[in-house]
Amino acid sequence: MNEAAAASVAAVAEHGAGASAWVALAYLIAGICFILALRGLSSPESSRRGNRLGMIGMGLAIVTTLLTHEIASLPEIAIAVAIGGGIGFVTARRIAMTAMPQLVAAFHSLVGLAAVLVAAAAYLNPLAFGIAGADGIIHQVSRVEMGLGVAIGAITFSGSVIAFLKLNGNMSGKPIMLPGRHVINLGTLAAILGLVAYFLTDQSPWVFFLVTALSFVIGFLLIIPIGGADMPVVVSMLNSYSGWAAAAMGFTLHNSAMIITGALVGSSGAILSYIMCRAMNRSFISVIAGGFGAEAGPAGGGEKIERPWKRGSAEDAAFLMSQAEQVIIVPGYGMAVAQAQHALREMADLLKAEGVRVKYAIHPVAGRMPGHMNVLLAEANVPYDEVFELEDINSEFAQTDVAFVIGANDVTNPAAKTDKSSPIYGMPVLDVEKAKTVLFVKRSMGGVGYAGVDNDVFYRDNTMMLLADAKKMVEDIVKALGH
Ligand code: TAP
Repeated sequence: MNEAAAASVAAVAEHGAGASAWVALAYLIAGICFILALRGLSSPESSRRGNRLGMIGMGLAIVTTLLTHEIASLPEIAIAVAIGGGIGFVTARRIAMTAMPQLVAAFHSLVGLAAVLVAAAAYLNPLAFGIAGADGIIHQVSRVEMGLGVAIGAITFSGSVIAFLKLNGNMSGKPIMLPGRHVINLGTLAAILGLVAYFLTDQSPWVFFLVTALSFVIGFLLIIPIGGADMPVVVSMLNSYSGWAAAAMGFTLHNSAMIITGALVGSSGAILSYIMCRAMNRSFISVIAGGFGAEAGPAGGGEKIERPWKRGSAEDAAFLMSQAEQVIIVPGYGMAVAQAQHALREMADLLKAEGVRVKYAIHPVAGRMPGHMNVLLAEANVPYDEVFELEDINSEFAQTDVAFVIGANDVTNPAAKTDKSSPIYGMPVLDVEKAKTVLFVKRSMGGVGYAGVDNDVFYRDNTMMLLADAKKMVEDIVKALGH
């Protein structure tokens, strides 16, 4: 090592050591806040506290970073934060709850892009980042971090953009299967890994930028064959990637808060993906390999066989439920679209006043995002002790008088249990058809759920279809209950 390089390394070390004790403590406290935030978010009762702790931790991490880094001036950073924060604030306030998954996908794409830009900035100006000697030779370990960070970041970016386009309806939700895609994907992945290894011996721009370009391509290739029904898993998987990308860049920036936060996001996203795969009875590998939902049901143009079904009115529903001992409400995506949760709580209150036991059954993938139904029911102040997970309530349908299905479809479809050709075969479903009577609220007989398949429950003898907008129907039932 020449003298200048040694001096530069010593200066970086000295600067780091000076502030490091307080900085390390602040980052440690921020990390603890994030861990407690995740713990809080695991149950509806403590989720608000969890959110607050997360905000405190993030505030502490940002302030500490701003006070101890000299890469950009504070006014520049304040302007960037104001612009980004302003856009985020307005978007999050305006977004409909049902469009939340695409918003999350869009946000992940930004995390991925940020990792790519940080890696590029560090690559182009390694001395400013303290990752090279005075001769400009980037340290070997930093090359690994940078190579992996830029690769994961670029995959997250292009993958999230495709997930956004699919969820937002700008691109077909159906899997797009390229011939020989597995060979192309494996070949591209091998090339990326090979180039990252080669980057250790040669830091030429073509290596760095080829890794970046190939990673953008593989993100695109990995997500286009994945069908709409697997998108929740994909979004959570991309969330995990964005965390790993941030953690890798945390090493490059010598920022332990970023490493901790990235690792927490990376691992919690991976765990959530696993939990969702289990809820849909899909293996993680088969989700990544793609192709699910390729053969669409009636919505995809197949023949729909006309079968007899029974239609009921709000008055019929009010009468049946008021006579029941127990009613289980099964909410789904349609309840979210119609924003029927407040009217639904009012209906439940009236039923309870008449001595009916009311419970809510929540499927883990009901709606369009994890916890979607829990959030809406909490917003309408539904007591938490009336809300049950699938495995805790499924056995109760057989002893229940009325299952009131409101805007749910796929999560109640018995084809998941019996029809091997169904795209949702194997997904655990709520056994609503076992209740004495099933009241099914949806707008039309033609409308299908997310997976695009018909539901046999509509045509069963014990089912009464309540065809209307979910909110309108529940309001009418409330009127009928109040006489
Ligand atoms: P879906 O199967 O999508 O069914 C929604 C039902 O709501 C449809 O039958 C629709 O029929 C009805 N509907 C729509 N708007 C309505 C309105 N205004 N009033 C009354 N009914 C209305 O919903 P689900 O049972 O909740 O299942 C969720 C599906 O989404 C699963 O396939 C899951 O894999 C997928 N998914 C889940 C997530 C997560 S993480 N939760 C994310 C993405 C995708 P009409 O059109 O006839 O009204």
